[in-house]
Amino acid sequence: MEKNYKRHLVTAALPYANGAIHIGHLAGVYIPADIYTRYLRMRGEDVRFICGSDEHGVPITIKAKQNNCSPQEIVDKYHVIIKDSFEKLGINFDIYSRTSSATHHKTAADFFRKLYEEGKFIQKESEQYFDEEANQFLADRYIVGTCPKCSAEGAYGDQCEKCGSTLSPTELINPKSALSGNAPILKKTSHWYLPLDQYEPWLREWIVEGHKEWKVNVYGQCKSWLDGGLQPRAVSRDLDWGVPVPVEGAEGKVLYVWFDAPIGYISNTIELMPNDWEKWWKSEDTKLVHFIGKDNIVFHCIVFPSMLKAYGDGFILPENVPANEFLNLEGNKISTSRNWAVWLHEYLQEMPGKEDVLRYVLCANAPETKDNDFTWKDFQTRNNSELVGIFGNFVNRAVVLTHKYFQGGVPKIELGFTAMESELEKEMLNIKRSIEDNIENYKFREALREAMNLARMGNKYLTDTEPWKLAKSDMDRVAVILNVSLQICANLSIAFEPFMPHVAQKLRDILNMNTFEWDQLASLSILSSNHQINPASLLFEKVEDEQIEFQVNKLEQTKQESKKEEPELAPLKPECTFDDFMKMDIRTATVLEAERVPKTDKLLKLKIDTGLDIRTIVSGIAEYYTPEEMIGKQISILANLAPRKIKGIESKGMILMAKEENGDMKIVTPEGKLINGATIG
Ligand code: MF3
Ligand code: ZN
Repeated sequence: MEKNYKRHLVTAALPYANGAIHIGHLAGVYIPADIYTRYLRMRGEDVRFICGSDEHGVPITIKAKQNNCSPQEIVDKYHVIIKDSFEKLGINFDIYSRTSSATHHKTAADFFRKLYEEGKFIQKESEQYFDEEANQFLADRYIVGTCPKCSAEGAYGDQCEKCGSTLSPTELINPKSALSGNAPILKKTSHWYLPLDQYEPWLREWIVEGHKEWKVNVYGQCKSWLDGGLQPRAVSRDLDWGVPVPVEGAEGKVLYVWFDAPIGYISNTIELMPNDWEKWWKSEDTKLVHFIGKDNIVFHCIVFPSMLKAYGDGFILPENVPANEFLNLEGNKISTSRNWAVWLHEYLQEMPGKEDVLRYVLCANAPETKDNDFTWKDFQTRNNSELVGIFGNFVNRAVVLTHKYFQGGVPKIELGFTAMESELEKEMLNIKRSIEDNIENYKFREALREAMNLARMGNKYLTDTEPWKLAKSDMDRVAVILNVSLQICANLSIAFEPFMPHVAQKLRDILNMNTFEWDQLASLSILSSNHQINPASLLFEKVEDEQIEFQVNKLEQTKQESKKEEPELAPLKPECTFDDFMKMDIRTATVLEAERVPKTDKLLKLKIDTGLDIRTIVSGIAEYYTPEEMIGKQISILANLAPRKIKGIESKGMILMAKEENGDMKIVTPEGKLINGATIG
């Protein structure tokens, strides 16, 4: 570790209490943070791991309206679901509190008041949309209209979900209030702003110069925000849900959720250690690390640090902000509103006893440097071939053989080690160092791979030495092999404690091992001779095809339902003339040959008969059709599209496809068989 810190304060983004936790949250934030803190604790470091529900913000008030209840009822419901599911997964927070707590309200209000009194804010008047019928100002999310960029209907005042553009409410065409459906009026209102522009030189120095070691995605985002120039940011809102702005003349105003939420890290620390919290936040001996998802980067690297800087009084800044990218699910973006997610609380019910399998799969496939995809098929494969096939298999063989030949006692070693065991010892030390190095540099996937290598190593050792054969002739050698194998098992129970705590504990139960420390890792004398172990029991179970089918079907149903409810359609394109259309030569054709384009996932190379000629078309349909499926199919093509080179292959024309916005694609075929070259129009 670069500097000798006395203590570690680790935070994980406070999840919004307007929905449950899904695998995207877990892979991006909570599993890495939990691995990191478990590891630090095992090393004997002084650690506090802080989290809690983020219970303010407009999405919560919207959810309450939709459900005809109060925001408080929404957050009460989800706070419990979230807290409980984290606990069951073994996410080991020292505190999981909530921003509706009295401590938080007071802490956040005091924070604001100090900045206010010291003149750290600027106050500005602006015109904002107001709903006269509902008699309230409208948060950006409460205004819907036509997107000025892509003409989609239903764009929000802050964002168009169709084209992804960031918007401001006054840009919307035909704005309507989501409360009453009426056109809102513009009305003057006054808010407090944190002048981020004033912090720009300091932020540049601190991040761009001072934290070049941050992850590329984090550093890059910060730099591009800074290069774009920072603007003052409003820290209050006209809303009735949140922490009231604690100054006179601020009736009907609350702190902006992104102002109060990060202060939640402080409030929760205060709740955890009312007398002692200051040394955790105000001492250079504390290493502060924020685990977050990539959509939170600007708030944790730019806004919150500026708030702390403005506050002064010795508050420390994060030493690192290891943000992950996003996890997709079966090829599509995870979406709470479309229910496209694997929900943690449902997983825990449907896959009892498999908490650590989820931890394993999500860590092994974590979106550390780029977006990644979770598939149930991959979940099954990783469980069956890696956890059952390697880890479980090794432990089971070592334990069963010890019972068979030594009545469950760790065999005493009478012979010296061979080159094989010395090699093992060396390799284990390398693995230990590599795990440490990777975890300390927030590379959890790689760390887990190294831990698995320990199991691979053990498995190979047993397979190579074949003690079951030697048992007939050389029991002294069998004693060495099984002793060493059990020592590797003990090592596994230590190495896996940060990643799979339930499995690690189960393994220690089998080994009858009561204490453990990180420093024992790579030792071949953790278990003493004659120490009695318990009977074998399985660490992992196979995941059956039916379980996977159940999950896949569940997702498939979600897709069908959300299509029925709100099929996402591409917006209408600008008008075209009859002549525009007549320029296009669209015809029937038949696929003669089809093959994948090497080194690509999406492309097929097709030889087609257009009636006029035989030609090659490269098409991005490999995700939807196999080459075999395409051969013999009659299709429609745009025959006079200018030829293009795709991956070095000349493609003449384009296959017409019907495409669902976030789902399937199908070729367009004539209703019955026609000759090739029939014109379409
Ligand atoms: N609730 C936010 C989200 O889920 C994260 C808040 S993190 C905090 O994106 F810093 F504000 F607490
Ligand atoms: Zn748009």
